[in-house]
Amino acid sequence: MLLHPMLLVFTLTAEIQIQALRSICSPGYRYAQSYFKGGDLIIGGVLQMSDSTFFTFESSFAEFRTSIECFRSKLRYYRHLLAFYFAIEEINQNPEILPNITLGFHMYDSCSTAIIAQCAGLITLSGKEDPVPGYRCHQQGQLAGFIGSLSSMTSNIIARFVGLYRYPQISYGMMDRLFDNRVDFPFFYRIVPNGYSQYQGFINLLNFFRWNWVGILTSNDDSDQRDTEELKREIIRSGKCVAFVETLPLLFYITIKYWITLMSIVDTISKSLANVVILYSSTSYLTTQICTVPFWQEIEGKLWIISAASSSLANLNVPGKISNCKIFSGSLAFTIAKGEIPRFKDFIHSIHPSTFPEPPLLQLLWMDAFNCDPLSNLSNCTGQEMLSNLSHLQFDVDNFQFTYSVYTSIYILAHALHNMYIAKSQLGGDLKQEFQPWQLNQYMKKVHFKTTNGREIIFDAKGNVPIYYDIVNWVLLPNGTLISVNIGSFNQTAPEDHQFFMNPSTILWNPYFNETPRSICSESCAPGYRKILQPGKPICCFDCVHCSEGEFSNTSDAENCMKCPEDQWPSEKKDQCIPRTIEFLSYNDLLGATLGCTVILFSIITVVVLGIFIKYRDTPVVRANNRDLSYILLISLILSFLCSMLFIGHAGRVSCLLRQVSFGIIFTIVISSVLAKTITVLLAFKATKPNSKLSKWVGTRFSSHLVLLCSLGEVVICTAWLLISPPFPDYDIQSEKGKMIPKCNEGSTIAFYSVIGYIGFLALLSFIVAFLVRKLPDSFNEAQHITFSMLVFCSVWVSFIPAYLSTKGKYMVAVEIFAILASSAGLLGCIFFPKCYIILLRPELNTKDHIIGKNLCNKVK
Ligand SMILES: *[C@@H]1O[C@H](CO)[C@@H](O)[C@H](O)[C@H]1NC(C)=O
Ligand SMILES: *[C@@H]1O[C@H](CO)[C@@H](O)[C@H](O)[C@H]1NC(C)=O
Ligand SMILES: *[C@@H]1O[C@H](CO)[C@@H](O)[C@H](O)[C@H]1NC(C)=O
Ligand SMILES: *[C@@H]1O[C@H](CO)[C@@H](O)[C@H](O)[C@H]1NC(C)=O
Ligand SMILES: *[C@@H]1O[C@H](CO)[C@@H](O)[C@H](O)[C@H]1NC(C)=O
Ligand SMILES: *[C@@H]1O[C@H](CO)[C@@H](O)[C@H](O)[C@H]1NC(C)=O
Ligand SMILES: *[C@@H]1O[C@H](CO)[C@@H](O)[C@H](O)[C@H]1NC(C)=O
Repeated sequence: MLLHPMLLVFTLTAEIQIQALRSICSPGYRYAQSYFKGGDLIIGGVLQMSDSTFFTFESSFAEFRTSIECFRSKLRYYRHLLAFYFAIEEINQNPEILPNITLGFHMYDSCSTAIIAQCAGLITLSGKEDPVPGYRCHQQGQLAGFIGSLSSMTSNIIARFVGLYRYPQISYGMMDRLFDNRVDFPFFYRIVPNGYSQYQGFINLLNFFRWNWVGILTSNDDSDQRDTEELKREIIRSGKCVAFVETLPLLFYITIKYWITLMSIVDTISKSLANVVILYSSTSYLTTQICTVPFWQEIEGKLWIISAASSSLANLNVPGKISNCKIFSGSLAFTIAKGEIPRFKDFIHSIHPSTFPEPPLLQLLWMDAFNCDPLSNLSNCTGQEMLSNLSHLQFDVDNFQFTYSVYTSIYILAHALHNMYIAKSQLGGDLKQEFQPWQLNQYMKKVHFKTTNGREIIFDAKGNVPIYYDIVNWVLLPNGTLISVNIGSFNQTAPEDHQFFMNPSTILWNPYFNETPRSICSESCAPGYRKILQPGKPICCFDCVHCSEGEFSNTSDAENCMKCPEDQWPSEKKDQCIPRTIEFLSYNDLLGATLGCTVILFSIITVVVLGIFIKYRDTPVVRANNRDLSYILLISLILSFLCSMLFIGHAGRVSCLLRQVSFGIIFTIVISSVLAKTITVLLAFKATKPNSKLSKWVGTRFSSHLVLLCSLGEVVICTAWLLISPPFPDYDIQSEKGKMIPKCNEGSTIAFYSVIGYIGFLALLSFIVAFLVRKLPDSFNEAQHITFSMLVFCSVWVSFIPAYLSTKGKYMVAVEIFAILASSAGLLGCIFFPKCYIILLRPELNTKDHIIGKNLCNKVK
């Protein structure tokens, strides 16, 4: 039957290739087995039943030839074949699926080689051993679709030209991302996840064990290279780092160059700090090579994470080979889900070539398993050999991965055909007569059923089924057998945070590690530290530095330290903020109490002096030099002592307003009283000169006015200050770490310095005037006492400045109080104590005569 003309045009370019193939696919050049059974609809199967080796040999100088040999190394490939057969027989016997339609098959060994798979596809397609492209010559039934194949290369080549004829194809092991491309492969489906879908699982696994420094080993296969690049990007995007990517040449050319490459790879992996190496490949080649080439065993202390294709395809269960494979002991591997095929075990255990309807199907299996040919009468077979005689390790009949996939693939095709059959019957048609392969595709897209292991089969837009992986732990038994134990799963259809499941307690790690292995470039930074990256290295390599003063970090691996809120301070370890301790001068502590007592003592002394002055108010000593001024001075001194008490205790709103203002005004009164006293002395002296106009100024009134005037100046400054920018309570957090000192914020510094400056100015003026008049004859040398007191006053406040600036916290306040007390006490002591001494102890000197005698010029009343 000739194909549709349009298809022929479409295939013209491929035609040339296919013509070339014909010579290769001629019967004499074939290595692989094929099996055929007729039916209404034929399912083509390109199964991998043997492995291949390439020989490259030098046929003559500089001319190389490659030759292929298929060798049957794995009994388990026969399970694929048997599952294929079993599924088709089951469907044929099942009246629910495709009733009245018999399925046949045409199975071919792909020999894991692209070119042989291509021949297989072509032969199946044309139905003739000597394939004729473009023609279909099946005698018994029509081809419905393809199952195949296991590896990337073979599936790819089949897909490329089977797609041309628009047959649906289901791969049972091909994880290459390439086939997600629906433009190039619109008829391709697969029931294993694509390799890409593992990446998230890998990253979940790395996250789970906090591994952030990993290596990747892959093959130089194009798709592996592409996938590895992508994997590397994904790992980096998730914030982890790739220590190295090593590429192992796929083809086993035994050359010096190959060994050098191998040595350098082994060296890199051994020396790397990355304890975790991801083995990513779409073939089992790397896994097998690492297990079989002794050279690899030099690598110790690495934990391998093995990609699904490499792990699922790797033959763990062949005795002999695995004794070398202690390197993989403790590895974690993603594998495609296992499944159990109902009744399949009984089927396998019951079959025998002598009773089997299709004896050739079992011939090679018997030959490989029992070393005898069951179909030859010359053979050594006893006829007693059963598959049940094979050990579990040789021929596992319980755990199926790809076998299960083959079984499911057949069912998918059957379900699609069934739906098509129903649709056709409803229109009165007959599938057997009217089958067109391209029509099947739309039914393939809509297939939806549940498999025997509970998996839901439904294809997404890219022809993939829902993604599910088992995660297994490879455990090396003492007798050298490597077994795999289920420890977790990755189910991408589950909600985000339930996709990854892992039971770490059941993992048996490589004995090299005593505990869960670690794989990091730098130890993580504890809270209280921050990371600094090492120049030129990936972000996973960093140093930790302690947070600087006043900063903290409360997470591990913090990028930056943060500042605490203003009222808090980092703890000793700088891993959290704790409230600052509030510290201020209070009556409760020794310093505060001492100062308080001193204040009260001085105040009492001053009150006593005032009392003495009032009591002896009519004695000449008191009357001399302006009695009222003395009262004002004493009262303001009492106030100035008392005002220092405003500085003790927690600064509140009111005490802040009062502190500097009352200090300013009271001190102004004190100083201006002293100034008035001095000027009085000066004027009194000048007024004694003949015709002095000054005499009328000499009087109490003048002094009171002077005091009033001077104080008024300060009051104006203070009022302006309070009105414009009054002081307010505040905290000093700068001066002492970890402490918070209540203080008064001046509000306006200019105002503050104006107040202080005004006092300073008056003090300086008093000092200068007192200095000028110190030599004048004066009753009791008052001018000298004033000079001295102003000297004390000024030196106290001058030395106050450095002392104030060099102390912190509550001691600043203490220094200020001390300065107030000292300067006030200085005035009290220098001006009033000599007078009290005379009044109380030397009353004989307290006479008018004495004073006048001493001071001829004193005209003051
Ligand atoms: C199967 O074929 C038989 C006889 O050809 C027919 O009677 C029967 O209805 C068919 N069954 C279905 C489900 O088409
Ligand atoms: C093998 O046995 C079959 C029948 O069982 C017989 O036809 C055939 O000739 C025998 N072949 C040989 C080589 O004995
Ligand atoms: C049968 O067994 C003998 C010795 O046990 C062996 O030499 C011979 O090759 C075997 N024949 C076949 C067909 O395996
Ligand atoms: C294989 O097993 C069958 C039944 O399970 C038994 O009859 C037969 O003797 C066994 N054959 C060998 C070679 O052990
Ligand atoms: C190794 O030991 C396990 C369990 O102890 C056993 O099932 C397996 O058959 C043994 N393998 C070999 C090759 O002896
Ligand atoms: C994956 O998760 C989905 C959603 O939770 C669930 O329905 C499905 O059964 C899971 N698949 C397997 C194989 O457990
Ligand atoms: C760390 O500190 C920040 C800012 O103070 C806070 O928002 C966060 O909750 C803290 N985290 C932990 C784990 O304490």
